[in-house]
Amino acid sequence: MTRNFHRGRRLRRTSAMRDLVTETRLSARQLVAPLFVCEGQGIRDPIPSMPGQARLSPDVAAVEAAALAAVGIRAVLLFGVPSRKNPQGSGAWDPEGPVPQAVRLIKASAPEMSVWADVCLCEYTDHGHCGVLHEGDVDNDATLPLLAQAALTYARAGADVIAPSDMMDGRVAEIRAALNGAGFADRAIVSYAVKYASAFYGPFREAAGSMPQLGDRRGYQMDPPNVREALREALADVDEGADMVMVKPGLPYLDVIRAVREAVNVPVVAYQVSGEFAMMHAAAERGWLDLERAMVETVVALRRAGAGIVITYFAKPLAVVLSREASS
Ligand code: PBG
Repeated sequence: MTRNFHRGRRLRRTSAMRDLVTETRLSARQLVAPLFVCEGQGIRDPIPSMPGQARLSPDVAAVEAAALAAVGIRAVLLFGVPSRKNPQGSGAWDPEGPVPQAVRLIKASAPEMSVWADVCLCEYTDHGHCGVLHEGDVDNDATLPLLAQAALTYARAGADVIAPSDMMDGRVAEIRAALNGAGFADRAIVSYAVKYASAFYGPFREAAGSMPQLGDRRGYQMDPPNVREALREALADVDEGADMVMVKPGLPYLDVIRAVREAVNVPVVAYQVSGEFAMMHAAAERGWLDLERAMVETVVALRRAGAGIVITYFAKPLAVVLSREASS
């Protein structure tokens, strides 16, 4: 006599059955690939703590974007790695800087690609902070017009999406007004609305050379224990005109992604950051976990938590795995 209790295993017996009952599907179309762009030509300078990632000169970034498009990825997020820095971070709005150059070349090599430009001063300031300093503190209101100027420079180069990651108050409104005033009402803003002061940005700061020379970012990035505050940040940015909001980092903040998803009616983006990527690689190198499975599992977790879009350094290898699965 077979006992009649709940038999969840019936729906897990075969791969076809598991596929039919999948609640969250991954698609390359919902991934954004970050690219680090440096000055020069023909450069692909590997980043040791981020296997597979490199600082690319604008021409090489354009080739890379075409390769990403070929595996089904629809968006890239550009970070600048300038060779010169100053207290104002004026390289951030240089129309001949690596990011505007890369935007123009990517628009030529991969015309369908949605090009997102990160807006922040930390890669361009000699002190490494995300805004200008006044008496040792980051001056919020003095930083706003500089961020708007950087956003305009990227919009003029052809960027589709402006992504401010500085965590200054009021920057979304400032950037929206600047874009509208210059005839770029059609360009979207994805705000890093909920960006925590996290240990997981370590490899990025090494890659972009943006480690603060003094102090840390806790005076402007969010405090990890807080989630109600995350909702205030997200709602304020939507109010100021953000078209999408981001939560960052990803995996340690799944509850925050869920809460933001329920609080706003714009797309929610999760950023699986450099430290999340690096630690999986480090463990896999030691044979302590299966990298491909960890990659799929963590990105699906971000989607399941409520992110419609995921920014991840795994974008390309993940897209390759997904297309292999689709054809098997
Ligand atoms: C710049 C910026 C950072 C990241 C994205 N934009 C670094 C920081 O705030 O220190 C982190 C991305 C990553 O770790 O992958 N403000």
